[in-house]
Amino acid sequence: MFLITGSNGQLGTELSKLLPEAVLTDVADLDITDETAVKNFVSAHQIETIINCAAYTAVDKAEDDEDLAAKINIDGPRNLALSGAKIVHISTDYVFDGLAHKPYRPEDKANPVSVYGKTKLAGEQEVLKYAKEAVIIRTAWLYSPYGNNFVKTMRRLGAEKENLNVVADQIGTPTYAADLAQVIVQILPQISTENKGVYHFTNEGVCSWYDFARKIMELSELNCKVNPIPSSAYPTKATRPFYSVLDKSKIKQTFNIEIEHWEEGLKQCLKQL
Ligand SMILES: NC(=O)c1ccc[n+]([C@@H]2O[C@H](COP(=O)([O-])OP(=O)(O)OC[C@H]3O[C@@H](n4cnc5c(N)ncnc54)[C@H](OP(=O)(O)O)[C@@H]3O)[C@@H](O)[C@H]2O)c1
Repeated sequence: MFLITGSNGQLGTELSKLLPEAVLTDVADLDITDETAVKNFVSAHQIETIINCAAYTAVDKAEDDEDLAAKINIDGPRNLALSGAKIVHISTDYVFDGLAHKPYRPEDKANPVSVYGKTKLAGEQEVLKYAKEAVIIRTAWLYSPYGNNFVKTMRRLGAEKENLNVVADQIGTPTYAADLAQVIVQILPQISTENKGVYHFTNEGVCSWYDFARKIMELSELNCKVNPIPSSAYPTKATRPFYSVLDKSKIKQTFNIEIEHWEEGLKQCLKQL
């Protein structure tokens, strides 16, 4: 039996559609920070594999809310790993400092520059320490038709404004949550003690938030002009990596995965909106 935690979130919702037989829980049904509740739930529902989509994902808010971010992003995954089930755990490109000049491989040194990134890295370490069979997938710039994300914000602002300033010096790869969900489903039957470890998955290609915003406007047929600005002109509470492109060779080779370009993922998402 599969358990999806955080099933009301962006990724959780996409996965729920692909795995209708899974047990779905969000914080109201199963709070992953409650060790006893997790243990009892896993045992009562005979869960063999947990896909952990639950997380504290408010990157800026986390700077002032470290205790709760740590509880959800560190204690939560530890509780899930301690339950004895196999686990697919999702992490982030924000574990890196963004000072590299070539795509980050899973084994490259992590050095998070935000509270969110630090808690997510510590969460990975708990999963690796306590789960026998675990696949950790770092992803980036996730969007979907659900919840709050950059695509939905740009479409809303693009319909309201004639001009929009968007940072052009942060480089990464947008990832359609449905594409990540598909990959997780493909990986599920292949999880073993041999392939325990950290993997990277985003869509293919590289862009800045400015490029991404322009493509959203173009494909949505919105006449809002997007202006490139430096991060210094758009201060945020949390520092973000300037460069967080992820090298996906390991996930492709280990699990025989093919990956769509980010523009294709975006087109698919826009069809749903
Ligand atoms: N979003 C991105 O751009 C991005 C980028 C890289 C990596 N990731 C990672 O990808 C994964 C999925 O992200 P997402 O965007 O799908 O997240 P999301 O939309 O924020 O969903 C997270 C879900 O977890 C729930 N949750 C929070 N605390 C919980 C708890 N204690 N117990 C159980 N559920 C709890 C949330 O409920 P509430 O809404 O009620 O709090 C929400 O439904 C996360 O691990 C995230 O760190 C995301």
